Amino acid sequence: MAKIISLVNQKGGVGKTTTSINLAAALGKEGKKTLLIDLDPQGNASNGLGLNNSDFENDIYDVITGTCPIKDAIIKTKFKNLSIIPATINLAGIDVEFVKKMLEDTTFRQNEQLRNALAEIKDKYDFIIIDCQPSLGISTMNALVASNSVLIPVQCEYYALEGITQLLNSIILVQNNMNPDLRIEGVLLTMLDGRTNIGLEIIEEVRKCFKSKVFNTIIPRLVRLVEAPSHGKPISDYDPTSRATLAYQNLAKEVISRNGD
Ligand SMILES: Nc1ncnc2c1ncn2[C@@H]1O[C@H](COP(=O)(O)OP(=O)(O)O)[C@@H](O)[C@H]1O
Ligand SMILES: [Mg+2]
Repeated sequence: MAKIISLVNQKGGVGKTTTSINLAAALGKEGKKTLLIDLDPQGNASNGLGLNNSDFENDIYDVITGTCPIKDAIIKTKFKNLSIIPATINLAGIDVEFVKKMLEDTTFRQNEQLRNALAEIKDKYDFIIIDCQPSLGISTMNALVASNSVLIPVQCEYYALEGITQLLNSIILVQNNMNPDLRIEGVLLTMLDGRTNIGLEIIEEVRKCFKSKVFNTIIPRLVRLVEAPSHGKPISDYDPTSRATLAYQNLAKEVISRNGD
């Protein structure tokens, strides 16, 4: 049975998508059957693995609105043990679509559609990684309800923890109402610039706040991670000897060793 991990932070630009792609690819390389779900209408995770809209017929919007069975939206990538369900701008319409559905049918559960869809396939994977959009709206709520745990990327910058209280409150809301077993997988420090002191200060602050929940692995700020998606590759294929490849490999090992906690 897959462990389902959502990458959530309503702040944009903190490394959710970069981590989703590269953690999913690294888990695949570690021999784990992995499915990456792009749950952001920007489709950056899909593009980052080399997919264009013309390459597929169905996307995650079709899945959670019930227009296509989930198995028909899964695309095998050329990377080891890695499949993806892509997203397109269609997903931006989900809030309106679900309000309409609730007006037509008062029993419709707008936050449970992804969980229901994943139930059909989760025994086929070891890990399902969900790349959320920078909001705590309906699509992210679907991810939280469907997941076993949440991985929170935090950028090593001023205001790193801005908005975290709101995020933790959303997690508690979901735990209290729809998914009592939802856990915090861990907090991941991203984009550390080793040449500045501010990075080290943030590390200390985040560790004080989240203690052992903070991953030992810290993702360095490296330009190779910015380049890789434009070549449609995870970092491990774009630059196998990069420090970034090693960092994501270490993160994957930590995630595997936490599995079952
Ligand atoms: N470790 C890193 N080093 C350098 N640039 C990074 C790193 N992680 C992410 N980036 C860049 O920062 C920007 C935001 O990252 P992204 O993963 O898209 O964040 P999010 O999905 O949270 O919005 C992107 O341009 C990405 O290439
Ligand atoms: Mg993103």
